[in-house]
Amino acid sequence: MGRFDGQVAIVTGGASGIGAATLRRLASEGAAVICADINDEAGEALVRELNGQGATAHHLHCDVGELADLEACVAFAQGECGGLDIMMNNAFWAAGGWVHTIDPEGWDRSLKIMLTAVFYGCRAAIPALLERGGGSIVNTASIEAFGGEMLASPYATAKAGVVNFTKNVAIEYGRKGIRANAICPGIVETPLADAFKKASVRSPEELANLHAIGRLIQPSEIASVAAFLCSEDASAVTGHAMVIDGGLTAHINLSGRAPYES
Ligand SMILES: NC(=O)c1ccc[n+]([C@@H]2O[C@H](COP(=O)([O-])OP(=O)(O)OC[C@H]3O[C@@H](n4cnc5c(N)ncnc54)[C@H](O)[C@@H]3O)[C@@H](O)[C@H]2O)c1
Repeated sequence: MGRFDGQVAIVTGGASGIGAATLRRLASEGAAVICADINDEAGEALVRELNGQGATAHHLHCDVGELADLEACVAFAQGECGGLDIMMNNAFWAAGGWVHTIDPEGWDRSLKIMLTAVFYGCRAAIPALLERGGGSIVNTASIEAFGGEMLASPYATAKAGVVNFTKNVAIEYGRKGIRANAICPGIVETPLADAFKKASVRSPEELANLHAIGRLIQPSEIASVAAFLCSEDASAVTGHAMVIDGGLTAHINLSGRAPYES
């Protein structure tokens, strides 16, 4: 018996990193899963892996910047899998740079893929979730929803929007059985984090040491929390922005003292 037996889940940005780990986790607990991503090669490879393990998995080419693509994913879930129970809006694309140098098109695209697309995903999914009598939405934000990060204003702005938008979904649909939560990861070992590590002036060791757990986070450690939020174990959790950062933001660090290690 899996927690998600008989359920159907869509994860956007599901071909890589946190999204792929969440699809693996949901499938391992019984869900039929749909990877919605523009990276067809990686999405198809993931689906082959999951189907090879006995899961039911599909990849659909989906650009989350297009509402019609998200509607097509939901229609596929209903037509081919019997309905929809879980929607995770997770895809990533961001421009960056000093505010006065950011290309306005890059700003617009960042907010489209990381914020407007979360709205698109919810808009497309909610009628299908209502048809099932409820369901769960997880929107991927970031710890940068709660503070700025140098040269990352489009990212931090979009993620802050995701947190409050998620609260709105929670309050509007809670009585209809839909729960909506945001997850706010710290630094997770994915291709996105690889790019961040290259751009950071901190060494990998310094980045790891910013975390109370003394290391970066694995995608599976985000997936397990996303799965918890999707499950009945979280039946009273909605409108929440769950920080999963290994203690990164727990530390103000004015003292500059090294953490206790022995
Ligand atoms: N990795 C981290 O440290 C970290 C920290 C906090 C938040 N996050 C968030 O987690 C989410 C997943 O990030 P990740 O680290 O797994 O990144 P990733 O780069 O591994 O995966 C991102 C996925 O999004 C897909 N994508 C990009 N544009 C798309 C589009 N228009 N339509 C559909 N799919 C598209 C990519 O093809 C890729 O598969 C993002 O929302 C990111 O902001 C990541």
